[in-house]
This record gives sequence, C-alpha cells and structure tokens, in this order.
Amino acid sequence: MKGKILVTGGTGYIGSHTVVELIEQGYEVVIVDNLSNSEREVVDRIEKITGVKPKFYEFDLKDQLKVDQLFATETGINGIIHFAASKAVGESVQMPLVYYRNNLVSLVNLLEAMQKYNVPNIVFSSSCTVYGQPDKLPVDESAPIKPAESPYGYTKQVCENILRDSIRAFAGSVHGIALRYFNPIGAHPSGLIGELPRGVPNNLMPYITQTGYGIREQLSVFGDDYNTPDGSCIRDYIHVVDLAKAHIVAINRMISGKNKADFEMFNIGTGNGYSVFDIIKSFERTSGKKLNYKVVGRRAGDIEQIWADTTIANNELGWKAQLTIDDMTRSAWQWELNCREKMQK
Ligand code: UD1
Repeated sequence: MKGKILVTGGTGYIGSHTVVELIEQGYEVVIVDNLSNSEREVVDRIEKITGVKPKFYEFDLKDQLKVDQLFATETGINGIIHFAASKAVGESVQMPLVYYRNNLVSLVNLLEAMQKYNVPNIVFSSSCTVYGQPDKLPVDESAPIKPAESPYGYTKQVCENILRDSIRAFAGSVHGIALRYFNPIGAHPSGLIGELPRGVPNNLMPYITQTGYGIREQLSVFGDDYNTPDGSCIRDYIHVVDLAKAHIVAINRMISGKNKADFEMFNIGTGNGYSVFDIIKSFERTSGKKLNYKVVGRRAGDIEQIWADTTIANNELGWKAQLTIDDMTRSAWQWELNCREKMQK
C-alpha cells in the first residue's frame, strides 16, 4: 500500500472517479459521504471497476463529534481529498446559509481534526469560479480574485483563505493544494460511474445527454449574443478522468515532499476554450443524435468566457489533460445510455 487517503464526498461525481484512480495507484481509500447528492451503490461500482471495495462511512462532516471519532478510528491517514460540498450556483443564491454552513463548517472540522490527529496533507476542490470574469485570458493562478458571483463561489474563495490561514498557523505540520477546476464533464470508460444529477440538471453536459435521450424536450442555450466567435459562452471543459488523475498527482506531490510551499494552488483544465455550440456539435458527432435546442436569453450570473492557463500545473505537477472534447461527450452519452438501461431493468 502506498498510503491511506480519506476521500470526503467520495461517492459523488468527481470523488468516485478519484477513488478509482487512487485504488488503481495502490492507495487504501476511506470514503465519507452523507449521500446528499449520491448513491451508496457507487461503492459497489467502484469495487466492480477496481476489484477493491473502499471502506465507507455515511455521515455529515458538519458533525464535529463524528469527524473526531472517524480520525480516532481510522488511524494513519496520510492525506485527505476534500470534495464534500454543495455546488449548485442557483441554489446557493436561494439558500446562502445552507451553503455557508455546509461548505465552511465541514472544512473547519476537517482542519481541526488534521491538527489533532497529525494528518499532514489535504487536497481541496476549488473552482475557476474564484476568478470571476478574468481581465486576461487564458487565466493563470496569479490573476486577482474577483468579488464572487454567488454564495457558492464565495464559499470556494473563503475555503481557500481558511486553508491558507490554518496552514500558515500550523507552521509546516499540514500541507495543502487547492485545485481550481474548470468544467468537468464526461464519465469513466467502464460506464459504471458518472454524473448523476438529481432532478433537472443545472449544468450543460447532463442537460444535453438527457435531452438526447428524450428525458428533456429541448436544451435552452443561454445566450448567443456574447462577444465570442459564435456568440455563446466559452468554457474550459475537462474530462473527469483527467481531473481525477490530477488529484493523485497532487497528493503524491505532498506525500513525497515535492511541494514547493505549504499551500499551493493549480488550475486544472485543458487550456482550450469551447463554446456551447461546440459542445452541442461534439455531442451530435459522437452520439449520432440530432440535438433539439433553442437559443434563449442569457442566464443571470454567467461568465462570458474563461479558459485556463495550465502552464504551472503542467510544469510543476507534471500533469496534463489527455482526453479530447469528443472523448468527453462520447463517454457522457455512453453513461447516460447505461444509466437509463439499468433503470429499465
Ligand atoms: C458553474 C459554476 C462553477 C461550478 C459549476 C459546477 C459559475 C460561473 N460557474 O459552471 O463554478 O463549479 O457550475 O456546478 O457559476 N448552459 C446552457 N444551457 C443549459 C446549461 C448551461 O446554455 O441548460 C451554458 C451556460 O450558460 C454556460 C455553459 O453552458 O455557458 C456551462 O454551464 P454549466 O455547465 O452550468 O457550468 P458553469 O456555469 O460554467
């Protein structure tokens, strides 16, 4: 065994893909998840893919006592990958306090336990949302942090600050890496895990695949009058498997002492910007389906365009996204087909 990693939110979309990569790299994995946005069955699916069943605890990280008990029981944890958080932008505007309590308190509880139980390393799920609409594209890690567009975005900014301040105060006993994700889409090639939004999806890719399958009637394209080549918004979409691999590299970096500062942050994207219409075209190419869509007004709070400068991640982490936009839409479609087939059985 390479070491023992606690993955919070390990049955969620990005968490489950990261658990698979960790196990395949020889790590022992312990998952904590409150199943607020995922299913227990994901643990069995991880076992189907890897042949190893990770240990699973179902509880909420806001519960400080349970967090403490976990670390008292699971001794010898070498690092934490902290995914567990609420992530719907619109919902965060409706329920800011739920987001502040959930996203901030969970991290505070983990950091207190890390200090008490001498857990040395943490990887944090951050987001390109911390940049707002950058003045310069592609955006690099030194870009100024703009006022957040939503309570969700604000929690990512505050969590990065909580990490920075605590790691400084812990004076070398805890190391952290924040990975600023761009737009993760796609699914594992096994077709056994992927994104499973509850209810009507907010994000583009699951909305497209559900429309392709006929669960949704039509995709609304939010605006074609932006200052971009085809008028729709531009994002840096990244395959979730590439993203998952970045976490392994980040945790390895700290475990092997290769980190250059106690707290570091990296952009995790492909470095390419694609428009909403590019994604639709890719989906039509890889699924062979014609997508029913119509252009509607802009979505409040949307950023016009953002894509990553990944030079630092590529050079420092020695990590680079490998998979193409067609790999992303193809695997997302395959996952949609598999899910629906299974539901009908
Ligand atoms: C948003 C958040 C991001 C968060 C992510 C995860 C912002 C600025 N970004 O990303 O921080 O990590 O959600 O939940 O808040 N679109 C349509 N029709 C749809 C859905 C989306 O046209 O039905 C368009 C959007 O206008 C956008 C693109 O597709 O241009 C991607 O949208 P989405 O998948 O929701 O991701 P972001 O808004 O980029």
